[in-house]
Amino acid sequence: MALKKHFADLPVDVYKPLLVRDLVFGTRLPCDVFVRENGIMKRLFNRGMIYCPYAEKILTQKSVREIYYQERKKTVVEQYVAGERQEEKINIDPAVFRAYASERERYFQVERTLLIEGSDVGFCLYLLADLQYRLLLEASEKEPARIDTAVLSVPGEILIRQDDVRLYNEYLQSIRTMRHLPQEESTKVEALLVKESSKLVIKEILDDPRSGEMVKQVGNEIEQIVDLIFRKNTVLFDMLELQKYDYFTYTHSVDVAVMSVALGRAMNMDRDKLEKLGMGAMLHDIGKSVIDHDIVCKQGGLNNTEYLQIKKHVLEGVRLLRDQKDFPEESMPAVLQHHERLTGRGYPLGLSGEVVSLFGRITSIVDCYDALTTERPYKHAFTPYYSLSIMVKEKKDYDCDILTEFVEMLGNVH
Ligand SMILES: [Fe+2]
Repeated sequence: MALKKHFADLPVDVYKPLLVRDLVFGTRLPCDVFVRENGIMKRLFNRGMIYCPYAEKILTQKSVREIYYQERKKTVVEQYVAGERQEEKINIDPAVFRAYASERERYFQVERTLLIEGSDVGFCLYLLADLQYRLLLEASEKEPARIDTAVLSVPGEILIRQDDVRLYNEYLQSIRTMRHLPQEESTKVEALLVKESSKLVIKEILDDPRSGEMVKQVGNEIEQIVDLIFRKNTVLFDMLELQKYDYFTYTHSVDVAVMSVALGRAMNMDRDKLEKLGMGAMLHDIGKSVIDHDIVCKQGGLNNTEYLQIKKHVLEGVRLLRDQKDFPEESMPAVLQHHERLTGRGYPLGLSGEVVSLFGRITSIVDCYDALTTERPYKHAFTPYYSLSIMVKEKKDYDCDILTEFVEMLGNVH
């Protein structure tokens, strides 16, 4: 399963130990860092993550004095220990970032697993890496091009032009009819196709947040997601990407919906309740569509005024959805309360304890986890294991039983 790679990796003997005290605050880690738990190596920190006192606290809490790295990284680790370190600096050229941010809306992030090697596409593929978009495969309806290994093995986010969404949809339909896939593989492809169509619907609704027709379509997508999760409870791992290179609200929305439904299912919710939970989770960030785009996309930290603006997305979301006849009232707490914390330090209402509803408790956990595990231009993604460790450390913010269920769901199904 997809997340297995993050939790249990290679045989223990290809790792070398390193003392925690050799890590230096404010520096970037030169390689992935592992901890040994019950004889299994677990990826705790990603390469490039800035080592900070908070990370050290997590290690102390776990009573870890020795960490591990993969043997093939020996040279960079020795250089690091000898003092050749990359200090905390985020050198993003503002002009490059502006160009990247302004172009983002013209592209759509596609699922690379659905780009089948040996198949032909009638649209161009682009690669987003280091904040630059570049042509990866040139093609048109008249002159299709074949997808080969070289295209699929390049690291980075694969995108298409927004104008080519119709052709991409047709390509997805053609995959649906491929008959030669074994059963296991075909469920995975089906799950990813549902995910792609959900992303397309959410992208459209973010562009036109008042469209009643699109809200109805979100309902259809959720029905399919619930169907899949009832059919095969590990489908979650088919649908979640192992590595996300950048943050897109539509991908985040679908991932939060999929994980929320899977978590609700693990908590034995009935189908009707799962659909309502999924609907709210899928549209939890719809209010971002009416917030200033420059603030939503801003590089790095926000100042107070900008933070206040961002926080408005919750009530804006409620405002957009409350008159939608196809949006169930019972789904609203997922939208209204996904940034509330049980300690009362969340927003917009600062609710605490029992007042936070079940859907609010679920979506706040899933939303936070997805945000932590996603790469941003100014922040490396945290590993699933570190993200869960952070959340467990802040567990007073979350419903303890639901968080435990969530950790088990992500940790055990592999
Ligand atoms: Fe949000």
